[in-house]
Amino acid sequence: QERSFFMVKPDAVQRGLVSEIIGRFEKRGYKIVAMKMVTPSRELIEAHYDDLRSRPFFEGLCKYMSSGEAPVVAFVVEGKGIIKVGRDMIGVTDPLKSAPGTIRGDTGVSIGMNSIHGSDGVEGAASEIPLWFSQDEIANWNKTADKWIYE
Ligand code: GTP
Ligand code: MG
Repeated sequence: QERSFFMVKPDAVQRGLVSEIIGRFEKRGYKIVAMKMVTPSRELIEAHYDDLRSRPFFEGLCKYMSSGEAPVVAFVVEGKGIIKVGRDMIGVTDPLKSAPGTIRGDTGVSIGMNSIHGSDGVEGAASEIPLWFSQDEIANWNKTADKWIYE
């Protein structure tokens, strides 16, 4: 099954939106296979957003994400189409342009504090999952409710 990496960002942790955000994936029928609270180091955030190094907002983004003023909640979700569907559930980068019903469209107004990260493709997911989680932090469990979710 396809897996994707997500992270509740510090703004959403501070605002008490962790359960609201993770609950959306559970409600959709997806299986959470890893989850942890992390206060990310600057190095980890730089590695995570490595492809954005040349962008003008990179410095601010790294400072914000690794400030330590709030942790993030990193999690891995498994299920049919999760990479694409996860991005659709999140909305676009700017919350002001995200449709109501999406996570960003329902929770924020600022591009730098947009509540959640989600892998943007197969390659992103493949590199981000091992960046944030070791093998033994991933639970390969059998979700028996899947028989009521997948026909
Ligand atoms: P992530 O899921 O966090 O990766 O967001 P994304 O894939 O929608 O956007 P992208 O990977 O291009 O950018 C990563 C993060 O950098 C975004 O979530 C924003 O928080 C921030 N960011 C992106 N573009 C801008 C910008 O133009 N200005 C500012 N201030 N921040 C930006
Ligand atoms: Mg991105």
